[in-house]
Amino acid sequence: MANKKIGVAIIGSGSIATHRHAPEYAARPDVRILAFADRVPERAETLARKYDAKAFSHYEEALALKGVDAVSVCTPNALHAPITIAALEAGKHVLCEKPMATSDQEAKAMIAAAQKAGKVLMIGHNQRLAPLHVKAKQLIADGVIGKVLSFRTSFSHPGPESWSIEGATGWFFDKKQAFVGSMGDLGVHKADLIRFLLGEEIVEVAAFVEHLDKPMGDVDDNAVCILKTASGAIGTLTASWTHYPGEDNATYIYGSKGHIRIGADPRFSVMCFLKNGEKQYYEVGALQTNEAGGQSASGVIDAFVESIRTNTPPPISGEEGRRSLAVIIACLKAAETRRYQKVAL
Ligand SMILES: NC(=O)c1ccc[n+]([C@@H]2O[C@H](COP(=O)([O-])OP(=O)(O)OC[C@H]3O[C@@H](n4cnc5c(N)ncnc54)[C@H](O)[C@@H]3O)[C@@H](O)[C@H]2O)c1
Repeated sequence: MANKKIGVAIIGSGSIATHRHAPEYAARPDVRILAFADRVPERAETLARKYDAKAFSHYEEALALKGVDAVSVCTPNALHAPITIAALEAGKHVLCEKPMATSDQEAKAMIAAAQKAGKVLMIGHNQRLAPLHVKAKQLIADGVIGKVLSFRTSFSHPGPESWSIEGATGWFFDKKQAFVGSMGDLGVHKADLIRFLLGEEIVEVAAFVEHLDKPMGDVDDNAVCILKTASGAIGTLTASWTHYPGEDNATYIYGSKGHIRIGADPRFSVMCFLKNGEKQYYEVGALQTNEAGGQSASGVIDAFVESIRTNTPPPISGEEGRRSLAVIIACLKAAETRRYQKVAL
């Protein structure tokens, strides 16, 4: 693998493939995109023409193509597990988009398949790699805000209909394909982010997960959850597809010595306000938008390729994806039963 280009197939040729995976692979001199697959042939063909690759309408054909070493799984959520497992069984490394799967059983099967194949399995939780979150994690670990006591985090925007290649009638709104709505699209990012920032597990949750406004679909468009961590910190997680217009992607962490605001100010994306009156402002860049695509790389594709190249574990493993998914599953159960739920790990 040292001098050979890594051959890649991208399965699912919609928006995340177009804006993130394809351009970020193409930017690497050590990677060659060999194939795109999509159940809608024209979608795969459009990207195949742009990147001089082959187009397939069945992902199995892309997996069978000679020279494919690694696969990006960019399909609707319910297909993540079956396609990832098929790719691993075919001996490919896999970068799978979030949410990793639709159940803990599926997530475990994906992890087991990666172990059996001896291949990389990475999950696309890109928020961990964003410089503002890396900086904030460091400040929290350094004890700048003291012992973490509480937090609030939000990922909220007007919904995926303007993003998905399938628009307002697409899979994002169909429970069979998506398994979950705003909570799986956005909430899982923030469950993962809180686990990353605090370096501890979320152990118990309460939640409302509701369909409040979207005229289409049968999935949640709003979720408000209360999370408790292993050390006893408590906080809220909001995921919404009805914040019209605009986006709230900010996180506040409150500790015994002060608090940190992440992604709340357009210029100073990390700010600390301490009890002793001190203020710290850091210009470490805004959270990248997916629409900006290759203009501000997510770092996910680079990390995946480096993991393959250097034969080292990826920064966001299958097990990390599984633990973040477990928070979402517990929130869904809490909402359904109207009772607190332990996160099953
Ligand atoms: N990490 C992030 O920030 C981020 C952002 C957006 C989406 N995502 C994730 O990426 C995945 C794809 O989302 P998207 O926004 O690109 O959706 P999209 O609707 O734009 O595209 C999905 C594509 O998958 C294709 N597809 C469906 N079934 C298929 C099959 N059997 N084989 C091959 N292709 C198939 C569809 O035809 C469509 O072209 C989702 O899991 C989503 O949660 C992640």
